Amino acid sequence: MQYAHITGWGKCVPPATLTNHDLSTFMDTSDEWIKPRTGISKRHISHVNTSELATVAAKRALDCAGIEGKDLDLIILATASPDTLIPNIASTVQAEVGATCGAFDINAACSGFLYGLGLGNSMIQSGQYKRVLVVGAERLSFYLDWSRRETAVLFGDGAGAVVLEASEQQGGIMGYELNNDPAGRDILASGFGTQMDRFEADSLDFYINLNGQEVFKRAIHGMGTLSKKVLEKCELTKEDVDLVIPHQANERIIDTLISRMKIDKEKAFVNIAEYGNTSAATIPIAICDALDQGRIQPGQTILSCAFGAGLTSAAVLLKW
Ligand code: ACO
Repeated sequence: MQYAHITGWGKCVPPATLTNHDLSTFMDTSDEWIKPRTGISKRHISHVNTSELATVAAKRALDCAGIEGKDLDLIILATASPDTLIPNIASTVQAEVGATCGAFDINAACSGFLYGLGLGNSMIQSGQYKRVLVVGAERLSFYLDWSRRETAVLFGDGAGAVVLEASEQQGGIMGYELNNDPAGRDILASGFGTQMDRFEADSLDFYINLNGQEVFKRAIHGMGTLSKKVLEKCELTKEDVDLVIPHQANERIIDTLISRMKIDKEKAFVNIAEYGNTSAATIPIAICDALDQGRIQPGQTILSCAFGAGLTSAAVLLKW
């Protein structure tokens, strides 16, 4: 039996930031509105494309694992904000790290990185591959209408990556659950793509739109349901969980989720104040930060869950 262990990790967040106060200088908003409702204090904004952020995170993860690009068997890149629709941007990362393997993008929005971990885990457990790079990367600032305060304050840019390696030693990814609720496709959407009428400038709906209160309710339900399912599948209970790394969309969503699951609040990792919602990148960035802060220790059981447009949801349970 092969187990998929995380052996390397890395992140890339652009140096430029916009604080809540900065936003209030050009938009009718304030730190007093944003911080208590979302937990966000600032967000990092990139002047380079998603693939550049992804490449830096990928190189750091490879260095951390002590392997080179040529050692990889597969690259999975989760993003909802690729530089180009074709070619996929996993191929850009592949070229930059010098890998000769399969490489593809997946779009499961904010759940994308956990979808990627699940896929990578299955590829390794099947015995097909030994080393898989999973990246979550976004440049959502490009897809925001900066005159719409309802959405512009919520998101940020960044990337994170992990190396999954096969080992016969029990542990690593213990299980995962994926779901999608198509009835909620319209509550979180961007019209970018063929739904844009290219001849009618007025119908251009390029930017991200969301029904925040519906997203809020469904996020808690989606992440809660799949977290319970993955724990049951692995024959564990919430008492066995040492750390929860949830998707960072809103601190109040995380608080409500943790309290409904009756998990000790101290066990939730939260770094949304620094980055805002970086969609597919929130979880790999949080893994890097949790490691830097000593919050992840060998032998711990970690539950990670996410929710995003689609409406996708995902939960992964792993032994560090
Ligand atoms: N600054 C100041 N005022 C604002 C802002 C802003 N940035 N945005 C909205 N408002 C105003 C509205 O215009 C409205 O004013 P009105 O009462 O005069 O009409 C008022 O604040 C309340 O607006 P609501 O949208 O009802 O605010 P709510 O309390 O629901 O908070 C929020 C909005 C933070 C988005 C909340 O719904 C939420 O947390 N939703 C879930 C998280 C989410 O959607 N994240 C996005 C990504 S989803 C994902 O990652 C899966």
